Amino acid sequence: MIAALVLLWTAVLGAASPSPPRLRFSFQELQAQHGLRTFRLARTCCYEALLVDEERGRLFVGAENHVASLSLDNISKRAKKLAWPAPVEWREECNWAGKDIGTECMNFVKLLHAYNRSHVLACGTGAFHPTCAFLEVGHRPEEPVLRLDPRRLEDGKGKSPYDPRHRAASVLVGEELYSGVAADLMGRDFTIFRSLGQRPSLRTEPHDSRWLNGVGHLLPARE
Ligand SMILES: *[C@@H]1O[C@H](CO)[C@@H](O)[C@H](O)[C@H]1NC(C)=O
Ligand SMILES: *[C@@H]1O[C@H](CO)[C@@H](O)[C@H](O)[C@H]1NC(C)=O
Repeated sequence: MIAALVLLWTAVLGAASPSPPRLRFSFQELQAQHGLRTFRLARTCCYEALLVDEERGRLFVGAENHVASLSLDNISKRAKKLAWPAPVEWREECNWAGKDIGTECMNFVKLLHAYNRSHVLACGTGAFHPTCAFLEVGHRPEEPVLRLDPRRLEDGKGKSPYDPRHRAASVLVGEELYSGVAADLMGRDFTIFRSLGQRPSLRTEPHDSRWLNGVGHLLPARE
């Protein structure tokens, strides 16, 4: 617990005083001089979760209702796309709660972690019904796989935020996920959660801002 909290705090402190990037290129410069190749998923937005997986040579991207797996060598080669929308019932409930069906009641994928040799853990807002899934990604770079096992869905409360406008800061330590998120529908209760793994789930005191005073501007913690 302590080790992971230190990482989360590093993220908090890191965000307060970011070190300037060593190299800076504008989008136009990259396009003009570096043979920039772009990748865009149709009918989606908000590429908020990125996971570089050097072992498999892939870049995983979490977006609205989608996860993509791109080749690190050539973004146009063997790109895989997985649709992961929120179920209709959840979208309707979200809409009844006064949220916008077309912009908020979607599954915004907020975090991606390399879980083990064959799976990536993904969590999203699930139309204000946070949800996680283990995505099968294969283990051979030459045979990329991207599959969601519908039997392996997990409750995502305390892992992903409810609201697409909120962020989560998280780190996976072994099989345990430490996540700093707004843990309630209204986005008032910012909490650090420990979940998954063998031990019981644990969270910091409800509505105690001394633990975590918002994560709106945090960068995700890296292991
Ligand atoms: C990248 O992959 C695409 C599609 O397979 C191919 O047309 C292109 O030549 C490749 N580019 C490089 C630099 O290998
Ligand atoms: C990785 O984790 C998933 C989800 O718990 C599990 O189904 C799978 O068997 C694991 N794979 C390996 C190689 O341990």
